[in-house]
Amino acid sequence: MSEAAGTGERAGHGTELLVVGSANADLVVAVDRRPGPGETVLGSDLVVHPGGKGANQAVAAARLGARTALLARVGDDAHGRLLLESQRAAGVDTSAVLTGGAPTGVALITVDPSGDNSIVVSPGANARLRPADVRAAGGLLARARVVSVQLEIPPETVAEVARALPAGTRLVLNPSPPAALPPDVLAVCDPLVLNEHEARVLLGGGVGGSGGPGPGPQVPGSGPGPGPEDWARGLLALGPRSVVVTLGAAGALVAGPAGGERVPSPRVRAVDTTGAGDAFTAALAWRLGLGEDLATAARFAVRVGAAAVTRPGAQQSFPTADELPPATP
Ligand code: RIB
Repeated sequence: MSEAAGTGERAGHGTELLVVGSANADLVVAVDRRPGPGETVLGSDLVVHPGGKGANQAVAAARLGARTALLARVGDDAHGRLLLESQRAAGVDTSAVLTGGAPTGVALITVDPSGDNSIVVSPGANARLRPADVRAAGGLLARARVVSVQLEIPPETVAEVARALPAGTRLVLNPSPPAALPPDVLAVCDPLVLNEHEARVLLGGGVGGSGGPGPGPQVPGSGPGPGPEDWARGLLALGPRSVVVTLGAAGALVAGPAGGERVPSPRVRAVDTTGAGDAFTAALAWRLGLGEDLATAARFAVRVGAAAVTRPGAQQSFPTADELPPATP
């Protein structure tokens, strides 16, 4: 049986951002070169960090000053305790973090000298976060201005979040790892936030954008065009209210029915990109909940993502508000 894991420092004040998602222990090895198929490479000593796309977003937002809560499931084990400690240290409301049912999720991560990574996730307890857990957290959902979800939890749980969303509450969805989304979920995404790889998969370009196996096109004939503006148009045709395509060092593209706008990123030296997308999405979601428009929120979020790549790891790389690089003119 599971039990709620306790209450963090900011509980009871109303929630600016509720994150529903995964919590993983990140097992990280630095390598000179990430291995190809059938290849073995030697790497650094192993380090274990708190991670998972949901847990990362919650910590990123709380560290910026947002009143944040996390709905997630961890195992009753040392990795679960590591994750809970990290959430509480950041000030996240953990009253809806459930414990037990399976070992805590684990992410096996290799990072190369350019800061790029490859990740394999064993979902563990994340796969046991059920629609009933979302229904049981109805009070938390009702108090949230914005709810943010990703795809490291079961699709039926994501669908339940979309169904249970109170009127006036905004849903931000990062389809990572990428998978096809049902029309009723896509219809409430505002925005759908995704990187180039995820955009290509949702548009039917296949894993890695190479035409390999993927969820396949959701709109017949809507393959990816030559650039982000084309992807954004194709993605909007799938039904979300708005789209944000993250472009790494090039910043982001925000797009809605009225058109698109590029948002440049500050220039920084990347050390480790792990979790930078989560930090970006959390910052974006929080600022949307404060009433900013999409482009304004994205101009803040690119600064958060840029700061996050300058330090190793996921959660420990996330900045406070006074650690952000200046906005790009
Ligand atoms: O987005 C980065 C995260 O992806 C890592 O922390 C890892 O846990 C995986 O979920």
